[in-house]
Amino acid sequence: MSSSEYIVLKGGDKMPRIGFGTWQASDEVLENAVDAALVAGYRHFDTARAYENEAALGRALRRWTGSSLAKRKELFIVTKLPPGGNRPELVPEYFNSSLKDLGLEYLDMYLMHTPFAFEHVPGDLHPKNSDGSMKVDFTTDLIAVWKSMCKLKESGRVRHVGVSNVNEEQLTRLCSVQKPACLQIEVHALFQQNHMVAAANKLGVPIVAYSPLGSKALADALAAKTGREYPDLLTLPTVQSIAQAHGRTPAQVLLRYTLQRGLAAIPKSTNPRRIKQNISLWDFALSQTEMAELAALDRGEHGRICDFSFFVGIEKHPEFPFKKYTK
Ligand SMILES: NC(=O)c1ccc[n+]([C@@H]2O[C@H](COP(=O)([O-])OP(=O)(O)OC[C@H]3O[C@@H](n4cnc5c(N)ncnc54)[C@H](OP(=O)(O)O)[C@@H]3O)[C@@H](O)[C@H]2O)c1
Repeated sequence: MSSSEYIVLKGGDKMPRIGFGTWQASDEVLENAVDAALVAGYRHFDTARAYENEAALGRALRRWTGSSLAKRKELFIVTKLPPGGNRPELVPEYFNSSLKDLGLEYLDMYLMHTPFAFEHVPGDLHPKNSDGSMKVDFTTDLIAVWKSMCKLKESGRVRHVGVSNVNEEQLTRLCSVQKPACLQIEVHALFQQNHMVAAANKLGVPIVAYSPLGSKALADALAAKTGREYPDLLTLPTVQSIAQAHGRTPAQVLLRYTLQRGLAAIPKSTNPRRIKQNISLWDFALSQTEMAELAALDRGEHGRICDFSFFVGIEKHPEFPFKKYTK
């Protein structure tokens, strides 16, 4: 692999710039997909406590590493503190549960999943009131949670800590304590986050793009609920014509675009053919003209898919990160 296939983190650890997303896959399907991903060359795996699949991911990864420390060191495993764990005293407990379910001695990256919080209800990661709204914890002290996450590093059981879904102001605030090792946010052709990317670059925080292919399952679910239209990124004429010109798939064009913007990306697939496609990105390049054509697809805030509207009432949380909340 050439050096551009990694982001080099503080201390020299290398985070592969293409990782494997694991959201919304059943355990058995996920285990098979992870087996295929390892064969295809993925070494960076992204999960979260909230995905409730850490045990399945861990089983597949441990099948591959066996007892070899050298093979474990090849992997870059990421999981996330759930919104119900956003209290400083709860951070070690949630971290330990994730590590135990993954069956790992250490994590490569632990992310704060969201700056907003749910009430801590043991055994329920998405606690709801009887009217369907979330049980929101309105008392979140973001800095205290972040300090508690940073302290985890002292145990030697996590190599890096970072954040997800924070806005520029929140990222700047967190940086005043300690710079997050990465920022994981939604980024794709329709929602390019130019402002946030520039801000993170200025702060020296690498970005990992989630939903880089437009998260079709989430977009379809939201469309069914709200009636809002979510264009399919893979069928956009610009994406299709660039794909055709290179003899590549639309997904490869979208991912290559993300890489050429200097970001990392964590596409999810459970299909072995697409899993392989999504990491076969290093033997072609988009021209400046093609980059400009793809840049022009940006819809700004209107392109956001994962607006957390599925967590009813969460926009009232004082740390809710997104300004324009659209139902
Ligand atoms: N931090 C956060 O809050 C957050 C939020 C959302 C996501 N994430 C992370 O980011 C990962 C990726 O995001 P995502 O799962 O939302 O969506 P995504 O990766 O943008 O899209 C996944 C969808 O694209 C399809 N797909 C994948 N490769 C394809 C290809 N080559 N051609 C055509 N279709 C393809 C998949 O179907 P098949 O499986 O059938 O191929 C699936 O329906 C997640 O899995 C998760 O790990 C993090």
